[in-house]
Amino acid sequence: MLIDRLATASERETKIETSGFEFGSAIPKHWAANNPVITSFFNAVSSVIPEGEKFFIHSIRYYEKSITDPELLDAVKLFIHQEDCHSQQHHAMNDWLSSTGYPSLNIEDGLRKNLRLLQSHSSPDTQLAGTVAMEHVSTILSETLLNNPELSIRFHPEISRFFKWHSKEELEHKSVAYDVYQTTNPNYWHRVSKLIFVSLILLPAVAYIQLKFLLSEKQLFNVKAWSKAHWYFWVSPGYFRKMMPGYFSYYRNNFHPSDRDLK
Ligand SMILES: [Fe+2]
Ligand SMILES: [Fe+2]
Repeated sequence: MLIDRLATASERETKIETSGFEFGSAIPKHWAANNPVITSFFNAVSSVIPEGEKFFIHSIRYYEKSITDPELLDAVKLFIHQEDCHSQQHHAMNDWLSSTGYPSLNIEDGLRKNLRLLQSHSSPDTQLAGTVAMEHVSTILSETLLNNPELSIRFHPEISRFFKWHSKEELEHKSVAYDVYQTTNPNYWHRVSKLIFVSLILLPAVAYIQLKFLLSEKQLFNVKAWSKAHWYFWVSPGYFRKMMPGYFSYYRNNFHPSDRDLK
């Protein structure tokens, strides 16, 4: 039941709030497979999460008062609680990344300004549809990571625990933004156009941040690391390759996030 999930989530997050994750000198700089390119991808993702998740919360909160279904309202509360916690924990990770020389806090500042601009120039339903699209990306990243343990086998254990914690919670609330969007004035093209926007603008922006990180540590032209990272993401285990069926499922007319529940 949702109430049980809320209680479980609350207990778990109380534990996290008191113990947190241990970001610090015990973690090597290239904590993913000892590879700067693979590590910089996940570091770039972490850098956009605090402000990104605040944007998601803001877009959902706009509709919170108009929701009449008590179960959906509970789910919205769980969504806001979890995303707020993710935002704080990734900020802590970004703080640590910044102390190791990555410009992750500058990325947070820049993104905050850009997202405020986006909020002031787009309607609430467009912001919500953007959240639905980004939640889909979060879902496929999360389910692929959790379904394929070989993807994180060479991560530092603490960072692995951190990303898996976030991934599990993403799957717990993966339908919420979509279900709130259904209470507005849902439209197929409006919904899918936001995933196209995310794919063409926001995902390349994460790649740009990754390049900036690599440049900052003089690893941008590390051909061996790039070659191993290409193998990791596209061939074996093939993180991005494994995400593709999930990515394209969003373009189905009758798509719902719960169609592909974690096995
Ligand atoms: Fe999240
Ligand atoms: Fe989420």
